Amino acid sequence: MSNDYIIEVKNAKKYYKETKALDDVTIMFERNKIHGIIGRNGSGKTVLLKAVCGLIKLTGGMVKVEGKIVGKDIEMPQNIGAIIEKPGFINEFSGMENLKFLAGLTGKADTEHISQIMEFVGLNPKSKKHVSKYSLGMCQRLGIAQAIMDNPDILVLDEPTNGLDKNGIKEFRQMILTKKEEGKTIIIASHNGEDIRLLCDTVHELEEGKLVVAE
Ligand SMILES: Nc1ncnc2c1ncn2[C@@H]1O[C@H](COP(=O)(O)OP(=O)(O)OP(=O)(O)O)[C@@H](O)[C@H]1O
Ligand SMILES: [Mg+2]
Repeated sequence: MSNDYIIEVKNAKKYYKETKALDDVTIMFERNKIHGIIGRNGSGKTVLLKAVCGLIKLTGGMVKVEGKIVGKDIEMPQNIGAIIEKPGFINEFSGMENLKFLAGLTGKADTEHISQIMEFVGLNPKSKKHVSKYSLGMCQRLGIAQAIMDNPDILVLDEPTNGLDKNGIKEFRQMILTKKEEGKTIIIASHNGEDIRLLCDTVHELEEGKLVVAE
């Protein structure tokens, strides 16, 4: 592996009018580790994750994924699976139909594989229930399924245990550790101190868009 830092955030700035959502943030994310991002509401966690995924354009600085500048060398990194905010699904589709639709966009639709992923996250692949009728935790599980189904090298997870029950949280943590064993790199933004403590190899804290603690 030539590059120890799979993701490099360098002097990232994102301004929305008077708000400095990211104010000169530099973080180097090592490969094959679990990285935690913490901070109060509005501190810039989601904006940072969006920048890593190429979903927003920075006001200044850059994000490099696998040595490529996001938004310049590549529009969006291809090897990232993400949950950002509420995962967007089609309400009138079942879980299986949604995942098939999303997999179809990347040309990787395979019912057998999707069934396995759904079972892995604790959803019934045969259920005809529309996503509009899903509970918050079920939506979150479907979001996790969507993030991992293409077997990406990088997982970017914004508040991934929101809405999950005790079992769901336990299964989620096990899944993350399995992904690490498989060699993946994971970034988790969370308010759940326990998730961060139990899982993360590094923790970075944001405060009003600035990095305040790096360990
Ligand atoms: N599209 C936008 N337009 C204007 N301001 C925005 C936009 N997106 C984010 N912000 C602002 O940027 C700041 C950081 O927001 P962000 O969503 O990253 O916070 P967060 O740390 O994820 O908070 P939370 O813990 O509530 O999820 C906030 O002040 C927010 O209002
Ligand atoms: Mg957020």
